[in-house]
Amino acid sequence: MSASYGSASARLMPGSEQIKVEMRNKYKKPTTLHCGAGSGYSLSVAACSVIALFLLLQLYSHLPQKDALSLEPRLPTSNHFRELEEVEEENIQMPPPRKRSPRAVKRKPKRPTTFIDEFLDETSQLRRIFFPDMKTAIDPNKGNDSFYYYPGRIWLDTDGNPIQAHGGGILFDEKSRTYYWYGEYKDGPTYHAHKKAAARVDIIGVGCYSSKDLWTWKNEGIVLAAEENDEIHDLHKANVLERPKVLYNEKTRKYVMWMHIDNVNYTKAHVGVAISDSPAGPFKYLYSKSPHGFDSRDMTIFKDDDGVAYLIYSSIDNSELHVGPLTEDYIDVKNVVRPILIGQHREAPALFKHQGTYYMITSGCSGWAPNAAMAHASESIMGPWETMGNPCIGGNKIFRETTFFSQSTFVLPLPGLPGYFIFMADRWNPADLRDSRYVWLPLMVGGPVDRPLDYDFGFPLWSRVSIYWHKKWRLPYRWNE
Ligand code: GAL
Repeated sequence: MSASYGSASARLMPGSEQIKVEMRNKYKKPTTLHCGAGSGYSLSVAACSVIALFLLLQLYSHLPQKDALSLEPRLPTSNHFRELEEVEEENIQMPPPRKRSPRAVKRKPKRPTTFIDEFLDETSQLRRIFFPDMKTAIDPNKGNDSFYYYPGRIWLDTDGNPIQAHGGGILFDEKSRTYYWYGEYKDGPTYHAHKKAAARVDIIGVGCYSSKDLWTWKNEGIVLAAEENDEIHDLHKANVLERPKVLYNEKTRKYVMWMHIDNVNYTKAHVGVAISDSPAGPFKYLYSKSPHGFDSRDMTIFKDDDGVAYLIYSSIDNSELHVGPLTEDYIDVKNVVRPILIGQHREAPALFKHQGTYYMITSGCSGWAPNAAMAHASESIMGPWETMGNPCIGGNKIFRETTFFSQSTFVLPLPGLPGYFIFMADRWNPADLRDSRYVWLPLMVGGPVDRPLDYDFGFPLWSRVSIYWHKKWRLPYRWNE
């Protein structure tokens, strides 16, 4: 994206002369005034001066006072965007195979180890690459590396504790002009309920953090807590609460939370709803259900520009997604539903909209293990949706095939930076789920798609969605003003 903010130009023709007035901010060219020489010279100079003064006054009146004084750029420069779109390579080497006794080899010949095996192996030499330790934590209290995101590092809140908001989503609260990040609070021991069960942490609740800058996060506490004693309650700690997302309902003035509710074996497959008067809770749990009578596992909610909100969930044993509108108060689904991405086996949906087109990032279904993301697009949220391909750029092949060793959870629009979003994903650590990390990366919409589409009419209908890998990156300076 390129832009030359703070520039103005005008072409006037007083008599036979051409006057060109150009003004740019101090980071580009200095103000220049070109006046043609010749007859009527003094008249031209006078006209030039009057016009220049007028334009200067115009420009000054549009700048906030402090900008005019500090002479700092008010909006990000195109350089910054170019930096975000730079392809950054990663070079990780497979460690040499570990020695095994000849007897062990005979008993069970080993298939070659993959990067995903290494990623999931707690004792791997590569462990600290995927899960760097506390020494490298992102710490808002240190401030020496302010506003830089380091995907995969431990991220501390303003109290100095690792942020617990996994499988999360962000609400921008217009009233307080504050971002609220909700997610699974998983700061408990990881265990397997039985031999074949997936690794789990008992429900503790939904963690909530607030921020003005999307980098410094204050812990607002657990805004929806587990039930310790009532064994038949959905939120009993032995059950599952995943992927909480919150929307604000203007009509009822309630903050409405939707989440995946399940039992220990993931056979209940419900969606749950809670409401609150304040973004920082406490939320009151209402109920859970099978939406439209279908099983529902990974899910998200999305509020459209017209205020209509939708539920999107993996269904029919994760073989397809379903999408349907919520009721006006957002606390239930309407009796309308469409199956989408049928037979594609996608989960972890994260929806966003750009210039009237709906986009979605999903993951494949491999539990806590990472897999390749896909980007999808549609003209209508109710479908049909088309799959455009893997949006990941940079890193290396295995990074791209594992969504940078993470799984999508949310895509956050950045008001004021159209076409730019933050892709939020979880780098799950199934050996110790509380130590799962956040992978936040810049996502951009633009350029042609890179694979033929399902309903291809010989030309690409959609823009490409790109998620760029960066070891370290930040949003443009003063992006949120
Ligand atoms: C994933 C899902 C996660 C969690 C996990 C449990 O497929 O996206 O939210 O449910 O499985 O194994």
